[in-house]
Amino acid sequence: MLRVSIGRKRKCFPRIVSVLILMISVRKGGCPSKLPDAFLREEVYLSQVHLTCQNFIIKFILNDIPNSINIHLSNGIRQDHFGESNVYNDLKEKTALITGSGKKTGIGYAIARKLAESGCNIIIADLGKPGSPGDSVKTGTWEEMAEIAKNLKDEFSVNVLPVYLDATDKESIKIMVDSVKERFNNIDILCNNAGASFGVPNTVHTYDEDAWMKTIDINLHGVFRVSRAILPMMFGRPASIINTASRAGKVPPIFNGAYAVAKAGIIMLTKVMAKELAGAGIRVNAICPGQIATDLEKWRFGLEASFFNSTIEEREREMCKTIPLGYIGLPRDAADLVAFLASEASGYITGQAINLDGGQCMEL
Ligand SMILES: NC(=O)c1ccc[n+]([C@@H]2O[C@H](COP(=O)([O-])OP(=O)(O)OC[C@H]3O[C@@H](n4cnc5c(N)ncnc54)[C@H](O)[C@@H]3O)[C@@H](O)[C@H]2O)c1
Repeated sequence: MLRVSIGRKRKCFPRIVSVLILMISVRKGGCPSKLPDAFLREEVYLSQVHLTCQNFIIKFILNDIPNSINIHLSNGIRQDHFGESNVYNDLKEKTALITGSGKKTGIGYAIARKLAESGCNIIIADLGKPGSPGDSVKTGTWEEMAEIAKNLKDEFSVNVLPVYLDATDKESIKIMVDSVKERFNNIDILCNNAGASFGVPNTVHTYDEDAWMKTIDINLHGVFRVSRAILPMMFGRPASIINTASRAGKVPPIFNGAYAVAKAGIIMLTKVMAKELAGAGIRVNAICPGQIATDLEKWRFGLEASFFNSTIEEREREMCKTIPLGYIGLPRDAADLVAFLASEASGYITGQAINLDGGQCMEL
């Protein structure tokens, strides 16, 4: 319970006044002078600043709330520690296919690991080759996929199959399905997690058309294509599909339009599929991560850092001020949510797009 004594209120008064002055100066455009004008005009920037101010006020007024969480943080990112969370016994001996899981730093790998820990057989599906020159983020290589497969098999005694997959290529999906069928009769859990962003930062009217199409193709049509190809292996028993959307699919970001449009599309696709497949006992949900510490997130903060003439660490610290819980999430946070959605523990949940963002997005 929170109590603010009268003496404390008196002490807080000058602080509240200074915060109000700061907020008024921000409203009038008194933000740090190095910010470009175009960015200052953006409502999104102002709303971030307001949230920063709100957090600032909360910290000033309520600074007697213990802040013990910070002991686990390093520059706003918690330290990873696999192996301490719950496992779901009903997932034992199920088979899960996870796209974009061939890289140890990514969300897909964390999902694969968590499901393997729960006793699932795992299919690691990824590009299996280095990205093209100019690609924003490194991709899952075959060597890394093979190593992941071996490690998961050794550690959790489950079957693990690494397979090549380019979610933008129908032929590649067909070859993947054929190799999966050789090893497994059916799929119980499909995690459409592969994703990437091309051609950013750009506004809609300056966006390169090919980069726009490529971004929508991998993020949105990739989910459509892989789901269609895998569904015949899911029918006939209860199953779960979990699509990785994004906070960007709900709250419009600037300069990353194709990605945001694709992620919003994934949310609607999730809901359409959930309705269509409910009768077949297949639940379909999406997760909407905010900031999760991966290569993709580092790359995005790198772009921002060069834009603001700042550092990745500074940008991350700024971002943390807009996250009510105050820190950037880890891939394992996404994996914990996915395991829940895969398990019967979430048996009455379908057609939902669940935020995973430390409270950044709190729509009704
Ligand atoms: N990290 C975040 O903060 C964040 C936030 C919101 C949403 N997401 C989403 O989470 C998912 C995973 O992101 P991440 O942060 O782990 O990124 P990441 O770049 O680390 O991993 C993406 C994976 O997808 C694979 N991939 C890319 N194109 C592919 C293709 N055509 N076919 C098959 N695989 C392909 C890559 O090789 C890589 O292994 C993505 O869908 C991303 O959009 C991430």
